[in-house]
Amino acid sequence: MSEFARAAAIGLTDTPRWLPCRYLYDAEGSALFDKITEQPEYYPTRTEAAILERAATEIRGATGPVTLIELGSGSSIKTSYLLSAYTGANGTVSYVPVDVSHAALRSAGERIAEEHPQVDVVGIHGRYEDAFPLLRQHSPCMVLFLGSTVGNFNHVESLVFWQRLARHLPRDDYVLLGVDLVKDKSVLEKAYNDAAGVTRAFTKNLLARMNRELGSGIDLDQVEHVALYSEAWQRVEVYVRFRTAQTVHIKPLATTVEIGAGERVMTEISRKFVLDDVTKYLSHFGLHVRRVYTDDRHWFGVLLLQRS
Ligand code: AVJ
Repeated sequence: MSEFARAAAIGLTDTPRWLPCRYLYDAEGSALFDKITEQPEYYPTRTEAAILERAATEIRGATGPVTLIELGSGSSIKTSYLLSAYTGANGTVSYVPVDVSHAALRSAGERIAEEHPQVDVVGIHGRYEDAFPLLRQHSPCMVLFLGSTVGNFNHVESLVFWQRLARHLPRDDYVLLGVDLVKDKSVLEKAYNDAAGVTRAFTKNLLARMNRELGSGIDLDQVEHVALYSEAWQRVEVYVRFRTAQTVHIKPLATTVEIGAGERVMTEISRKFVLDDVTKYLSHFGLHVRRVYTDDRHWFGVLLLQRS
C-alpha cells in the first residue's frame, strides 16, 4: 500500500507524468484485462492462444519434461494448451504461476485443479523478480512469459529484466516468450481503443484504485483514456488525460499533486516487436532461439529460447 503511494507520488510529480503499469492489476483490473482479451479488436490473446494450441506438443517434444514457471500468469487460460501437452497421456507436471494479483492466482489455481488434476500448482504472489531465485531449484524448467507482457517494459527495464533472468536461469533451461509484432497502426490503435470501452475502463481503474486505496479523490468523469501508436518508438502509449485541473490526494503520504487541464499521465506502453530484432537482442543474454511460431498474418510470435 505505501509502495503504491510512493510510486504514485514519484510518477505524478515527474516530467512527463507517469504511473507504473503494475498497479493496473488489482482484482478489478485483472478482471477487466480478461474482458479486454475477449474484445473483437484485441487480437493478441486469441492469436497467441491459437499458436500455442498448434505448437504445444512440439514444444513439449523439444524441451522434454520441465517445470513450467509462468511470469504474470493472470487467468492462465492460454497456458491450458501447454499444461495438456506437458501432462500428455498420463504424465504430471509442476506449474508455478507468478502474479501480483492474488485474486487472479487463486481463481486460476482453482480452475487448473479442476481441469488438469495431473498438474501440481504452486502459485507465487509477487513480482517477476521474486520468482528468479527459485529457478535453480525448479530446474529443469521453462519460464513462460506470454501475452507480450514484455512489451510493457521500456528499454532499461527490459535490459534489467533479461540480465537478471539470464543470470538466474540454469544453463540449458528454457524460456517461452510471446511477442506482439509490428503491424498496421490502425489495427494497433483499434486494439487499444475497443468500441465497448473495456480498455478505457481498464485504464481508468488505475485512478479508481488510487481513489480506493490512496484517497485520491479524482473525478473520473473528467479523465479520459488515450491510446496512440508511435511508429518511431514501435509502441502503443496509453495515457489518462485530465480534462479539468484536479488536486490528487495521496493520503498515506499526506501530500497532494496538482494536475493541470489537458495534462496527460502515461499509464503503460506496449512495445511491438520484429522477430529478427528480438532474436538478436536475446542472443546478447545467452538466450538462443530454438523454435519460432507465428500466425498466418504474422501478427504475433512465440519463441522457444534456450540458455547456453
Ligand atoms: C498485458 C501488457 C500484454 O500491452 O497489450 C491491453 C496490456 N493494456 N490493453 C498489452 C493491455 C491495454 C497488455 N499486456
